[in-house]
Amino acid sequence: MNFELTEEQIMIRQAARDYAQRELIQDVLERDNKAIFPEKHIKNLAELGFMGMMVEPEYDGPGMDTVSYVLAMEELSKVDASTSVILSVNNSLVCYGLQKYGSEEQKEKYLKPLARGDYLGAFLLSEPEAGSDATSQRTTAIDMGDHYLVNGTKNWITSASHADVYILIAQTHPEKEHYGINALIVDSKSAGISLGPHEDKMGMRSSDTHSVMFTDVKVPMENRIGEDGFGFIFAMQALEAGRIGIAAQALGIAAGALERAVAYAKERKAFGTQIANHQAIAFKLAEMDLKVENARNLCLKAAWLKDNKMDFRKASAFAKLYCADIAMEVTTDAVQIHGGYGYVKEYHVERLMREAKLTQIYEGTSEIQKIVISRKLLQD
Ligand code: CAA
Repeated sequence: MNFELTEEQIMIRQAARDYAQRELIQDVLERDNKAIFPEKHIKNLAELGFMGMMVEPEYDGPGMDTVSYVLAMEELSKVDASTSVILSVNNSLVCYGLQKYGSEEQKEKYLKPLARGDYLGAFLLSEPEAGSDATSQRTTAIDMGDHYLVNGTKNWITSASHADVYILIAQTHPEKEHYGINALIVDSKSAGISLGPHEDKMGMRSSDTHSVMFTDVKVPMENRIGEDGFGFIFAMQALEAGRIGIAAQALGIAAGALERAVAYAKERKAFGTQIANHQAIAFKLAEMDLKVENARNLCLKAAWLKDNKMDFRKASAFAKLYCADIAMEVTTDAVQIHGGYGYVKEYHVERLMREAKLTQIYEGTSEIQKIVISRKLLQD
């Protein structure tokens, strides 16, 4: 076994750390407060090659590995998970699936600008009545010969109003159930698309979330990804990879909260000494550190399995479940260590705690990860 990172992986981690600590931190509180989309940061991160990290150079990406993606996600999420979720959706749910299953024409037209950061992508799976139960798609894509006619509503769409390209999951043959579902590439400016109001969220407030409504939207037949009926498996595979990104995000949120808690505990005095010298605080920090280290190892293992083309379905569910749950625990402890200061915005840990909550919900709730893990366990 080898736990050492390569020179390149260390450089990528450092680049992400530098960007987060120097740039993202500057306006993160204001963006969170006013729910401002991080437009400038997304552009800058694209220039660093972070919007399509794992896209091969022949499709205008930097061709980095998944381990590097985890390292970058951790560093960015320590400071600002709203920005890192935009990056994660573009990288894993949009670019990954397009690179793996898109046609050459689709890659030329969509993957290249997505990897360069000229386009931003969104992934449209959830519906008002199909969240965890993803097979129950009500949005329809009727085969009209040369195009699909799309009608329906998608919910909770990350980057909905800023994305240029939507990967849309919709039902074409209801009688075939999940084998009747297709994945379509949709231009977000197509006639018949409208957005619901901006969702006023508890956390991740500067990432932009809307419902997207489709009324008789025409999507060219050549925009279908893979064979007719491949859409559900496509979505599951995109999510399987995407969960590594969200796991790394949750890891970063926890690691960011731990760093802040350690710094505060070494500085804040109570009962005549730094609070870090009190066993109640020192032991809490030790437990937080252990959880963060376990989370990091689960993320890196899932990424390594993926990079080595091995089965990572259970590993990504393990990582997503564990990292999200410990992110909630570690951020809650970080707020507790900060006392009253932890409850005000200036000290960041209350924001990290709000951000942590969403990692237990999106890209498959913690309960869904247990379904994935237990099914794999019982089937193997
Ligand atoms: N690769 C290949 N095939 C897969 C697969 C995978 N990763 N996962 C499932 N399948 C196949 C199954 O083998 C099965 O095939 P058969 O019918 O031939 O046996 C088929 O797909 C259906 O699978 P299940 O029977 O397991 O289906 P299910 O209805 O019981 O549900 C589920 C499975 C895991 C619960 C799934 O519905 C799921 O993942 N739900 C959560 C959805 C989700 O994560 N939503 C997140 C939205 S995106 C988001 O949040 C982005 C964001 O904003 C950040």
